[in-house]
Amino acid sequence: MMNNIITFLLVVIALLQTKLSLCDNEPLVLRYYKETCPLLEEIVHHQVEIAVLKEPRMAASLLRLHFHDCFVLGCDGSVLLDDFEGVESEKKAEPNLNSLRGYEVIDEIKYLVEEACPCIVSCADLLAIVARDAVALRGGPKWNVYLGRRDSMKASLNGANNFIPSPNSSLETLIANFQSQGLGIQELVTLSGSHTIGKAKCKSFRQRIYDYKDSMSSSDNHRTKDRVPEDSRINMSDIWKRRHIGPTRFHDPNKIRQSIFSQH
Ligand code: HEM
Repeated sequence: MMNNIITFLLVVIALLQTKLSLCDNEPLVLRYYKETCPLLEEIVHHQVEIAVLKEPRMAASLLRLHFHDCFVLGCDGSVLLDDFEGVESEKKAEPNLNSLRGYEVIDEIKYLVEEACPCIVSCADLLAIVARDAVALRGGPKWNVYLGRRDSMKASLNGANNFIPSPNSSLETLIANFQSQGLGIQELVTLSGSHTIGKAKCKSFRQRIYDYKDSMSSSDNHRTKDRVPEDSRINMSDIWKRRHIGPTRFHDPNKIRQSIFSQH
């Protein structure tokens, strides 16, 4: 079961890379920086290892960073841009604000890579390599990363608000959302397996645990009220403290499910 998931995940991540990252119609290639930045992979791997050792959850956050980059007009590093003349940062978008993490890890890696080989490696490529290494370091699959992405000089705040899927989206909306990125239902399901690791705020998922109609009234947006129902059977803050709810390693999902439900 786990092997099937991993194989499937590998295939789809490869698809995600090719479908979302082509730029200037030039195909991405393996070892793109072999001559121009030979230490790139080593630097990245080492830094990701440090970040993930310091905080295991960071692996999940770095994977999500790559996804949020790719879903807004392709994998172009735009998620990293801050506000500047004419650019409204995607960091302020609803799905990203106070939620997307790991920017400082990328900043540090970019700094070291620039020291080793100035003006060679794109941030978009860094995000892709970092995501792969982060997942592998937490026991997940490893995949080939094809490189050669170009960084965007623009960000799209609207794009981030519209294209990054919301936790309250219906299945139909999610399917349409992935389709608009050139991804099918199998890819939607498989990539959703990324949530095997990482954490989420209560407000991102409690409406699916409770009969919490209040927060579902605005069905397809990210604004859910930050309240837990009074008659809650499960104390959410209690759950939040439990490590089982936010796994930071790739395990068999059945084990995770069992460990959650055996507590109640
Ligand atoms: C299918 C549609 C998806 C929806 C609706 C969705 C939604 C979310 C939400 C609401 C969170 C929690 C945010 C928070 O509470 O701060 C989250 C976390 C996460 N998502 Fe997704 N996501 C989707 C797809 C994906 C994909 C395709 C990937 C990766 C390829 C991904 C990777 C992650 C990871 C790793 C986390 C945990 C991050 C952390 O612990 O910092 N998600 N997602």
